[in-house]
Order: sequence, then C-alpha cells, then structure tokens
Amino acid sequence: MSSTAQTPSLPHWETTPPDLKAAIRETKAAIRARIEASGRSVEEVFAAVEARVAEKVAEIEEAKRGGETVWPVIDYADIEAGTVPAAMVEKLHRRGCAVIRGHFEREQALAWDREIVDYVERNEFFESYQGPADDFFGSVGSRPEIYPVYWSHAQMEARQSDRMARVQSFLNHQWTYESGGVQWFDPDRDSLYPDRIRRRPPGASSSGLGSHVDVGTLDLWMTNAYQQAFRHLFDGSVEQYDPWDASYRTSGPQYPSTTMCSVFRTFQGWTALSDMAHDQGVLFTVPIPEAMAYMMLRPLLPDVPDDDMCGVTVGQVFPVNEQWHPLLVRAFAGIPDVQAGDTVWWHADVIHGVAPVEDQKGWGNVMYIPAAPWCPRNEQYAPRVYEAFVNGDSPSDFPEEHYERSWPDRFKPEELNETGRRGFGLVGPRSRRGPTG
Ligand SMILES: [Fe+2]
Repeated sequence: MSSTAQTPSLPHWETTPPDLKAAIRETKAAIRARIEASGRSVEEVFAAVEARVAEKVAEIEEAKRGGETVWPVIDYADIEAGTVPAAMVEKLHRRGCAVIRGHFEREQALAWDREIVDYVERNEFFESYQGPADDFFGSVGSRPEIYPVYWSHAQMEARQSDRMARVQSFLNHQWTYESGGVQWFDPDRDSLYPDRIRRRPPGASSSGLGSHVDVGTLDLWMTNAYQQAFRHLFDGSVEQYDPWDASYRTSGPQYPSTTMCSVFRTFQGWTALSDMAHDQGVLFTVPIPEAMAYMMLRPLLPDVPDDDMCGVTVGQVFPVNEQWHPLLVRAFAGIPDVQAGDTVWWHADVIHGVAPVEDQKGWGNVMYIPAAPWCPRNEQYAPRVYEAFVNGDSPSDFPEEHYERSWPDRFKPEELNETGRRGFGLVGPRSRRGPTG
C-alpha cells in the first residue's frame, strides 16, 4: 500500500495540461519533494534503480557476447499443452519479451499475407493512398511501411482465433492482475484491439525506427492513475516497484493524440506474415522491464532542465536515446530469425525499435495484434471500435483515413465468432470497476 497519507501530494492533470512546460516544472518539483519526504534523496533513489538495471544490462551484454539468444523462445505447442518449462517462464519475466514459435501454421500465415495483398489490390488501395497521415514517429526517425488497413479477413481471423486467445491468456497471466480486493483485468478475455499492417518489400532500404516506448508520454507522470501505478518510484520505495503489477493501470485516461493507445496492453505484439532473418531490419528491444523505472526518474536529476522530461512530450512517442539513457541503449537485443506464423511480444513498458536495413532480403511483413485484456479502460474503448468495424472506419486511436469504408469485401459482423463478439463487448459480463473509476 502506498504511503500517500504521510507524503506530499502530486499535482495531476486528467487531460493535457494547457501549459506543458509549467506542468513539467510543477510535477518534477512535487515528485522530488515527495521522494525527499521519504528520507532519501532523488540521487540516492535513482542510483538504486540504476544499479538494479545495470545488473540486467551486464547480463544481456554477457549473453550477447556468448552468442546466446537473448529473447526467450516459447513453443506454441507448450502453451497449448500447458507445459511451458518453468525456466522459460522465468526468462520471460526477466526479459519482458518473447517469440512464440509456431503460433500459427506457416501456411496459414502465408495465406493471410496473400489475402491482404488481394484485399488491398481488389480495392485499389495503392491508387487511392494519400501517404502517411500522422507524425507518430516524428521524434524517433523514419517510419516503416505501414498500411492503414484494419478490417481484412486475415486480421480478423487471427484476432478472433482460439490460438490467439490462448497465447494472449498465457501472456496476461504473467501479470499480477488482482490486488487489494480489485481484479484489474480479466486475463482470459481480450478486447480485440485493431491495429495496422506492415509490409516491407525485398530490396527495401530503411533507416529503421528509433528506440521508444508505446505506453504513454507525459500522462505517465501527470495523471492520477499513473501516479498511483508508479507510486513506488515517486515515494522513495523504488525497491518495491514491480513492472508486472497491473494496479491502477487499467482505468486511467491518456492524453489524446494520434500516437495514443486508448487501451491497456499487457504486451504489444505482432504476427509474422513472412519469414524474416535476424539481420534484415527487424525489431529489437531493451529486454529489461524495470528500465521504465530508470526512464521515469531520469528527468528528476539536476542535469535535466526543469521544464524538460528528457524530451518526452505529447503527440509523439516516448523517445529513448543515447543522450539521456546511455546505460539502456547498451542492452539492445534483436529478435532471432522468425518464420511466418511465429509471433513476437514485448511487455507494454519495454523499450523497442526497428534496426536499419539496406537492400532487404525477403519480405518483412507483420500484422500488429497485442494482448489487451478486458478491463474498464478497454471496455470504454470497445463500443467505438465496434462502430468503426461496422462502418469500415479507421479506429479512433488512428488517423482518420477510412480507406476501407467503401471496400465491400471487408470482414462482416455476421462472421464474428464468440471470441470476436466478446472482444467487442457485444456479449460477456461487464468488467468490475477499479477504485480509480
Ligand atoms: Fe512502438
């Protein structure tokens, strides 16, 4: 339990503060005062976090030097049979990311890839494409090749499949989802979060995508819910911080922008729709979930200007870089080779990016499908998602491109199965409300 009764309170903004710089100054001063009220200095608390993270960084560097696969690799068959080795579960917790081998049959994934190509070609997508509609990656460099397509049969079949539900449930169960008499989310029900597709052709050259986190921006320091979620970072008890604790994460707001994710995700993930070699411009992470503690506290040190959160601002993803996070960038670890049908997952807080590539060998095709378990926040987004689905709209978290509105062959409501209907909130119990409303 937090010690809020004895420690100074924090100012909070449940919608984007009108004056960001002033809000940053006020927030930093209040968090510093709160940490100091615990009897420890900010420097001391940060040093404790740094030591905890540095130990993990050294472990990753050692593993990389020894040629070990840093990413845990879990066989889908073991998830289905309930026989994932304990050592692998432990590694998943330590690294906060995993590849699920054979999540879908390779032939199934390749057929989905062809289906997506047919779908966009039948509907003359390339003739009508207007170009990128957002500045999602403005802070971190160039963008990958993203199709703003949400409602193909391929995507919907994967989202509502038993195999996806099984893996999402396995991943959700890695979190602590019940505490203090509250069930923060239902680990066995997903909220079907629609996202886009990336298809990068052979021969492509890309400067990659700089490292960042998806989970939020200034709202992580400034909303009441996240101040509670990160209570141990802000009140001097950093040793108790647990990145797998879902408390207070599943009902708070996010500051709106085209980079936002309205839902709570336990893991972000994608399904490989082509084989991809580890050296062909693929995803990497900093496989250390506790690194979030480092990123949240780093702006409080005296070398960062009072009105700066190490470059984090609204409307762009949360950047992670050499300037402010030199310890973390040493631990970059790319995925191993994957085949079509494998899936790749990383904890919601885990730093990630995409490596550059020149003259790419083979395709680099993925569909983004996260684990977004049913909770108050996701339940709130579900009706808007369903409306977008029925109309063929871009979901409200994404730019208003709406290419699929006039495409007659998109996935239809009558094709939803029980998992799909539950994911849209059309059937199933309401979620229990957490105390933060
Ligand atoms: Fe991301």
